[in-house]
Amino acid sequence: MGSPMTEAANKPKEIAEILLDEPTLQSRIAELGAEITRDYQGEELIVLCVLKGSIMFTVDLVKHLGLRVAIDFISISSYGAATKSTGVVKMVKDIEEDIKGKHVLVVEDIVDTGLTLDYLKRSLSMREPASLKICSLLSKPARRKVDMEIDYLGFTIDDHFVVGYGLDYQSFYRNIPYIGILDTSLLDE
Ligand code: IMP
Repeated sequence: MGSPMTEAANKPKEIAEILLDEPTLQSRIAELGAEITRDYQGEELIVLCVLKGSIMFTVDLVKHLGLRVAIDFISISSYGAATKSTGVVKMVKDIEEDIKGKHVLVVEDIVDTGLTLDYLKRSLSMREPASLKICSLLSKPARRKVDMEIDYLGFTIDDHFVVGYGLDYQSFYRNIPYIGILDTSLLDE
């Protein structure tokens, strides 16, 4: 695990600030894993990773689940400008597991307007899972357009566009190990 100092030294100039460094992310994820493990004790769980933003979070979270876990993937894309959610959502890759009668935990990177998760929750509910809960690493409540209950939340953040740890801007920055605030004005230079 890189120290915050190493991260800062390698920071691209367009990352204005490191908001959540690796140790901060990892210790919160361990707490979330323990909480989820307690809540689902004795049950089997389908962890549904929402591609692509949740890849890092899902991989780290499942290591902390002391449960029988199946991992599946779903890919949805929203149309619109790169840093704005339009709420018009399309399913790009569906899940492979039959979730009827199963406990499903949807793992998201960030809930912004909430429109993506609202769509996902409604479409997954129609498949009659035994339960359907949401785990999101980040939440930006300032921009919420639909009421969205997040059962397990890592961090609440202010209204910044953030990248890293799976989150992208125009497909880049997902590999950065921390969450940083992107200064988009520096990208047009
Ligand atoms: P929502 O539908 O507005 O809640 O947006 C959810 C999706 O928009 C997330 O799963 C991300 O893919 C993307 N998104 C929202 N805010 C950010 C951000 O600050 N950085 C990177 N992606 C974001």
